[in-house]
Amino acid sequence: MASLTIRKLDEGVKTYLRLRSAMNRRSVEEEVRVILRELIEGREEPLTPFEPSAPTPSPQRTSALAEASVTLIIGGGIAAYKSLDLIRRLKERRIEVRCVLTKAAQQFVTPLAVSALSHERVYTDLFDPQSEFDAGHIRLARDCDLIIVAPATADLMAKMANGHADDLASAILLAANRKILLAPAMNPLMWGNAATRRNVAQLTRDGVTFIGPNSGEMAEAGEAGTGRMSEAIEIAAAAERLLRPPVPRPLVGKRVLITAGPTHEPIDPVRYIANRSSGKQGFAIAAAAQAAGAEVILVSGPVDLDDPAGVTVRHVESARHMLEQVEAALPVDIAIFAAAVADWRVANAGEQKLKKTSAGMPPLQLVENPDILTTISKMKDKRPPLVIGFAAETEHLIDNAKAKLKRKGCDWIVANDVSPATGVMGGDRNTVHLLSKNSGKDGDIAVDSWPVMTKEQVATELIAHVARSLADKPLEPAT
Ligand SMILES: Cc1cc2nc3c(=O)[nH]c(=O)nc-3n(C[C@H](O)[C@H](O)[C@H](O)COP(=O)(O)O)c2cc1C
Repeated sequence: MASLTIRKLDEGVKTYLRLRSAMNRRSVEEEVRVILRELIEGREEPLTPFEPSAPTPSPQRTSALAEASVTLIIGGGIAAYKSLDLIRRLKERRIEVRCVLTKAAQQFVTPLAVSALSHERVYTDLFDPQSEFDAGHIRLARDCDLIIVAPATADLMAKMANGHADDLASAILLAANRKILLAPAMNPLMWGNAATRRNVAQLTRDGVTFIGPNSGEMAEAGEAGTGRMSEAIEIAAAAERLLRPPVPRPLVGKRVLITAGPTHEPIDPVRYIANRSSGKQGFAIAAAAQAAGAEVILVSGPVDLDDPAGVTVRHVESARHMLEQVEAALPVDIAIFAAAVADWRVANAGEQKLKKTSAGMPPLQLVENPDILTTISKMKDKRPPLVIGFAAETEHLIDNAKAKLKRKGCDWIVANDVSPATGVMGGDRNTVHLLSKNSGKDGDIAVDSWPVMTKEQVATELIAHVARSLADKPLEPAT
C-alpha cells in the first residue's frame, strides 16, 4: 500500500489541511484519513451540480506529478489555435490534459499537434472501436476532475443546452458528472443572438461555469464586439479555481490587530536597548489570520522579515510608538499582542551621540514603558472583545503566565519558554501553552499545552482556536 507524505503536498493543499485539521481538532494525518473516508463513502459534496448517479473516485493519473486531470474539448472555431497554448498552460500547473476534437475543430487544428502538446492520444470519434470497447466516452466524461470546452462554439452550447449526444464531444458533456467550464468564442452577432442568450441562460441554470467571452477585435476583418475567447492564461486560472479546494475562511468580516517583534528604546540617536525577538511568531499569526479571511493590521517593531501579503503593516521603533499605532488601529474584534515590548526605556536618552569622557560612563536612568497589553485589556470603550497576550518566560512558565493573565486583564495568554536552551527567540519552532480564563467555578485558569511545532503551525492552531471560540460564542461586533 502506498504512503502519503504530507510535507510534499502543494502549499495550498497543506494550508487547507492545516486549517481544516486545526478547526476539527484532529492531526493532519487523521484529517486526510477522514477526507478519504468521506470521499469513498460518498459523503463529500458531489463535484458537480449535475446530479451524479453515483460518486466516482478521482481518476488515476498517468503522471505521478499531476495534481489534477482535465478533459479538454476543442470546438470548431478560429480560436481553436489558442487551445494549443491552453494545453501548455494547464500542464505548467501540473494538470493532466486529455483532448477531444470535434469534427469541425479538426479544420482548425490537427489531432497530431494536439497530441504532441498533450503527450496523450487525442479522441475524435464517438464510434471509435478502439476506445469504445469499454465505453470510452463515459470514461472521458468521468475519469477527470474537470471538463473544459474551449472554444465553446455556439453549436456546442446549443447541443449541451438541449441534451444532444450525436458526436463524441456532446456525448461526453451529456454523460458528465464533473464540473464543466465553457470558454465561448464566436462572432458578436452569434453571441448576441436570442438563441445563444437562451442557451447561455439554460447552461448557467444547469450549473455550468463560463469564462469570457472578452470584447475586442474579431478575426473577421473590421468586426469588433463581445465574442473573443478568453486568453489561455485566464482559462487556466479559472480551471485552477474550480479544481483547488477552497481554504476555510472562518474570520471573514473580522478585524484583527497583531503586534510583533522587539522594540528599540533609544539611548542616543545611534544606540538603543533591544531584545532578541525576531517577530517570526507574530508575522506567522498575521499571515494565518489573513488566510482565514480576516482584515489584519500588524504593528511591528524592527524586524528582518518581509511584510505578509494582504496585511496592513505599521512599522514602529519604540514601545510608545507601538502603543500609538495600536490605539490608532482600534476598534478591532481580536487583538493578539505577540511583540516583545521593552519594559523600560532610557529616561534621559541623549539628543546627540554620547561621548566617552574622563568623567566615566554616562548614568542611564530607566523608566517604565507603557504596558500595551494592560492598557488595551482595561480600556472602557474600545476594548476588543477578545484580547490575547503572550508571556515569554525563562522560569516558572505556567505560574508566571497565570499571574500575568490575572494581572493584565486579557482573555488568553500564550505562554512560551524562551530560555536560551529552547532556541525559541529567533528560531523557527515554538512550544506553547494556551491559558484561558475558565468560565467554570472560581474563574480558574485552563491550561492547554501544545506539542513542539513550527511557528506557522502554532499560528494556524491559534487562529483555528480563535475561530472555534467565535463559533461557540460569537463576539459582540467591534465599535
Ligand atoms: C472559418 C470558420 C470559423 C468559424 N468560427 C466559429 C467560431 O468562432 N465560433 C462558432 O461558434 N462557430 C464558428 N464557426 C462555425 C462552426 O465551425 C460550426 O458551427 C461547426 O458546426 C461547429 O462544430 P462544433 O461545435 O462541433 O465544433 C466557424 C466556421 C468557419 C468556417
